[in-house]
Amino acid sequence: MEKICVVGLGYIGLPTAAIFANAGYNVIGVDINERVVETLNKGEIHIEEVGLPELVKKVVEEGKLRASLTPEKADVFIIAVPTPIHEDYTANVDYVIAATKAIVPYLEKGNVVIVESTIPPRTMDDVVAPIIREHGFAPEKDIYLAHCPERVLPGRILIELIENTRIVGGVTPEAAKKAADVYRAIVKGDVIETEAVTAEMSKLMENTFRDVNIALANELVKISQRIGVNAHKVIELANKHPRVNIHLPGPGVGGHCLAVDPYFIVEKATEESPLIQTARRINNSMPHFVVEQIERMTTELPSPKIAVFGLTYKGNIDDVRESPAIEIYELLKRNTRFDVRAYDPHVKQEQVSFPLSSFEEAIDGAHLVVILADHNEFKNMKAEDFAAMKTKVIFDTKNCIHIEDENVTVYKIGNLYSVKAIQE
Ligand SMILES: NC(=O)c1ccc[n+]([C@@H]2O[C@H](COP(=O)([O-])OP(=O)(O)OC[C@H]3O[C@@H](n4cnc5c(N)ncnc54)[C@H](O)[C@@H]3O)[C@@H](O)[C@H]2O)c1
Repeated sequence: MEKICVVGLGYIGLPTAAIFANAGYNVIGVDINERVVETLNKGEIHIEEVGLPELVKKVVEEGKLRASLTPEKADVFIIAVPTPIHEDYTANVDYVIAATKAIVPYLEKGNVVIVESTIPPRTMDDVVAPIIREHGFAPEKDIYLAHCPERVLPGRILIELIENTRIVGGVTPEAAKKAADVYRAIVKGDVIETEAVTAEMSKLMENTFRDVNIALANELVKISQRIGVNAHKVIELANKHPRVNIHLPGPGVGGHCLAVDPYFIVEKATEESPLIQTARRINNSMPHFVVEQIERMTTELPSPKIAVFGLTYKGNIDDVRESPAIEIYELLKRNTRFDVRAYDPHVKQEQVSFPLSSFEEAIDGAHLVVILADHNEFKNMKAEDFAAMKTKVIFDTKNCIHIEDENVTVYKIGNLYSVKAIQE
């Protein structure tokens, strides 16, 4: 095996392409976005990921990785295009269909085709395989078709792509083996062969497990506010039990995985998935819950100035997709009483449709800082960093600020029963 064609050069496809290139393969990266292709061919990258700029620069300079708008013949094709949801919460597999159709003219007997995109159960068998068949190949013997879901953590992608256990689901057992061998060349973790539908479901259940457990923690936040107990303390103590691991509550669940993947199951088994659906509803309710708390805190101020800190869906990344922080910002903007500023050291202006503020602009004269992402920049802040605020009150929805100072009031999402209206 010599050449790999990676289709879709985003957070998953680009690091994957770079790692295979660094392992000595000739890699062609394909994307429909011209800017992505031009940037990569200059040895630069368009996303933020630890260690990736250096790795891409190296492999592009060595001629091992290059980008193109169109696929080429290769031994292995890896599809890593987006799989978002439609407005009605059904899966949008159009990108996977388009990418599969785009590679078909370049396929030859014996090629391996791997879909890394997260897909609803049975997509390999019912959607991808028929496209291959329509073009005259038998997915049972001509082309080795497999699904290998991705489970990396943004910020650690280059490490986890190598170290994580990989699940490889083949449309046939031979396809599972051939595709697994592709990963065995770069992965230090186990590479486990299974059927395509089992791989599809295992990926979806991983994220659903986390979504449901975060919903439980978020429900605990609401219960704690009603009862008058600190939810973070409750979690800390309950987790001293050797078999309990209550997750962390927060302002909602975002990203293109946890906030999306459970719907792929719900779509295929609606009546059988009431728990998954309830968890989604609870997590979707959190931005409104956070805004209600902000309204409680600022009820006595005629024109509260609110500084939103952090717009990404989690800390130390630049990804704002499905971010509850964006929803919170937009909900706050709807209240004409509020003067809202948004600051995020990881987010660039072109990523959002509203003006971003600098740290100084956001904090100057603010009545309230609302922390919505646990970036390191926020975790390390000290009381004096908030000196320019009018009233020094922080609402930390991520439990990441550690300030004990009599001049600064810090409310955590776990101790909301203690909130008092801010006085000017
Ligand atoms: N990012 C993660 O942490 C993560 C983790 C696990 C699974 N996934 C899954 O991996 C898949 C890819 O996610 P991502 O975060 O890399 O997405 P992304 O949006 O960062 O990148 C996708 C890229 O594909 C390109 N593209 C779209 N259609 C194309 C086509 N027909 N041909 C060529 N390129 C095309 C886009 O221009 C974009 O550059 C999704 O299914 C996602 O759910 C992502």
